[in-house]
Amino acid sequence: MSDRRGKYGFDAPGAFAGLVVGAVVLLALTAVSFAYDVMAAGIAFLLGALYTLGSAASYAYTTRRGKFAVWAGELDGLEGRERLLDLGCGRGAVLLQAAGRLPEGHATGLDLWRGKDQSGNAETMTRANAAAEGVADRVELVTGDMRALPFGDDSFDVIVSSLAIHNIPTTDGRAQAIREAHRVLRPGGRLLLADFQHSDDYENVLRGLGVTEVRRRDLGWRFWYGGPWFATWMVEARKP
Ligand SMILES: C[S@@+](CC[C@H](N)C(=O)[O-])C[C@H]1O[C@@H](n2cnc3c(N)ncnc32)[C@H](O)[C@@H]1O
Repeated sequence: MSDRRGKYGFDAPGAFAGLVVGAVVLLALTAVSFAYDVMAAGIAFLLGALYTLGSAASYAYTTRRGKFAVWAGELDGLEGRERLLDLGCGRGAVLLQAAGRLPEGHATGLDLWRGKDQSGNAETMTRANAAAEGVADRVELVTGDMRALPFGDDSFDVIVSSLAIHNIPTTDGRAQAIREAHRVLRPGGRLLLADFQHSDDYENVLRGLGVTEVRRRDLGWRFWYGGPWFATWMVEARKP
């Protein structure tokens, strides 16, 4: 979506602000250390500042560009007629790219619209983005919790989620979200769950549900939220 027309905000704006503030504080400490001729401390603070600035740059790139590019590749396999569900769709970064590839299909986005997880997060914002991207006619937005999906069994052909499931604070809650995704996916349907934490747990829950066709892969530097230690992993599965 390099020519995207919607406005997609910033993921976890508090975390990004923390990196920027941290870099500014470290730069100030660097300046003070050099002013008082404490060279060793000055060099240590300078290295810390550069490292934090690099992390902030990586984070900004991923949230504004990288995740769109990675998901574009993931969604290219859509055939165009699927019923797709995006768990924790936020302002629609993935949902609306998917909808653009579904001329005869349908895309449903479910979210609680939490502002601390994405800046400007609101159903009205996502609706406006759907209109701006020219896909409003094939997009439905639902307010709900992914731990209790308001859909019947086997309702979707494809379920996607990007950086959303980790926001559920407990292991049991995240497992419940995976079980719900599995329930509403039709047999033969595909799951694509991207997250930077807990992805090994998601894989294990799916295996426990009898899903054998499941794999986990690193999505690469374009999906780093600050560096390789915050890399995003994709859990890809097909329901038997
Ligand atoms: C970092 S944002 C990612 C949004 C979108 N997937 C993207 O990649 O731009 C995480 C989203 O998960 C949503 N979320 C968090 N907990 C949720 C829950 N239990 N049920 C549904 N949505 C949830 C938040 O409101 C937020 O929109």
